Amino acid sequence: MTMKHDTIIVLDFGSPEAQKIAKSLRLKHFYTEVLPYNAKDIAAHGPKALILSDASQANLLPDEGIWDLGIPILSIGNTAEAIQKHLQKPPIYSEEKLIPASPDLPLYCIHKLDLNLLQDFVLFSKTQSTWTPEAFIQEAVSKIREQVKSDTVILGLSGGVDSSVVAALLHKAIGDKLIPIFVDHGCMRYEEAKRVREFFNCMPELNIRFVDAAELFYSKLKGVEDPETKRKIIGGTFIDVFDAEAAKYPDARWLAQGTIYSDVIESIGADGKSIQVKSHHNVGGLPETMKLSLVEPIRNLFKDEVRQVGLSLGLPSQLLDRHPFPGPGLAVRILGEVNPERVHTLQLVDEIFIRELRIWDLYHTTWQAFAVLLPLRSTGVRDGRRTYESVCALRAVNSEDAMSASVTRLPYEFLEHVSSLIIEEVKQVNRVVFDISSKPPATIEWE
Ligand code: XMP
Repeated sequence: MTMKHDTIIVLDFGSPEAQKIAKSLRLKHFYTEVLPYNAKDIAAHGPKALILSDASQANLLPDEGIWDLGIPILSIGNTAEAIQKHLQKPPIYSEEKLIPASPDLPLYCIHKLDLNLLQDFVLFSKTQSTWTPEAFIQEAVSKIREQVKSDTVILGLSGGVDSSVVAALLHKAIGDKLIPIFVDHGCMRYEEAKRVREFFNCMPELNIRFVDAAELFYSKLKGVEDPETKRKIIGGTFIDVFDAEAAKYPDARWLAQGTIYSDVIESIGADGKSIQVKSHHNVGGLPETMKLSLVEPIRNLFKDEVRQVGLSLGLPSQLLDRHPFPGPGLAVRILGEVNPERVHTLQLVDEIFIRELRIWDLYHTTWQAFAVLLPLRSTGVRDGRRTYESVCALRAVNSEDAMSASVTRLPYEFLEHVSSLIIEEVKQVNRVVFDISSKPPATIEWE
């Protein structure tokens, strides 16, 4: 049975605070949705409370209908014309405690977001906090069952957080009607397929189809150096391989995807118009020709909530706390030609870097860390002999949304230690550098 949760709606007038407000309320188990400032028919969502996030921009007017809902409204930001127009007088601002605009209008205005006042507001609205990870899982499971009935569902499992949580949810909902397909494109992290198997040890009946297509990808990537061409080859080949594997299940009618809430909000934009839909962080997007309908069970979750749900489903934290990894994988971190030898070299280097970050308890001090193999060689000495080997770069950045990033200041002792280990353990590398560029102007990945 699906229960209806009390809902708080945040109307987004284009400030990044809208998401922050929603995240903080949801963390406390209040079911909260972010809608564009001009969303129509808000009543249909049956909200218990409404928050106008930064309604100060004079030309942006919310739907007039919000005044007839009879629910508490919190306006955050400077004097909003829409509110003045409605009240026909300046609203009352108070930063100490919430004061209603008038005895019969529960409208509260504050200049800037204050988490205590936000909490008071939610309390006034008598919203119930029932939206826990467990409640989410229970409802998601029944929704999935309702949606797909006894059909077969295909899922592209990448080893990342989102697709893994979708796999676990669907497995709980429909058992062996789920066909998770893991395509190894040969540019994955060190022993990735083995690691993915281990991550899902907790679900022994989950039958993951592992497709080792590395040779095919390497043959197509032979001699290719241009970054965009590499990406296109990987994206296209990935779709072909995935398609061919999925064709083995002709009765499959559904494709499950790990779309999450920030993808949804960001692809709509504050004005309600659809902006470029993020090519979902799968390698190349889904094969259009597959004629499958979509199942997107975590569409309403922020990233941290996906992790919470994953934990509640029994997935290991080593999987759920993984740094982001690009769909085309190590191919965008190998400058110049991608071939099995160079992939192997980079896998070893990256593995040492990540392993040591974990050992030194630094893995969580950085948002994303990885190694890059450069297309050049340099002179060194090993065991008294001159060497002429590859150079690799280490990169570690902090970021909120990947749009901008700053360098993580890893301790020098750590960097020196890792550099020595890499040069000692990986014979193909004799020089290690650390990338100190921010984004912008640099990007996070090197290609
Ligand atoms: P950039 O290099 O654009 O990366 O600063 C921003 C974030 O996105 C990841 N990234 C990708 N993820 N497919 C993906 O799924 C891609 O083609 C891709 N390119 C970059 C990158 O790792 C970083 O977290």
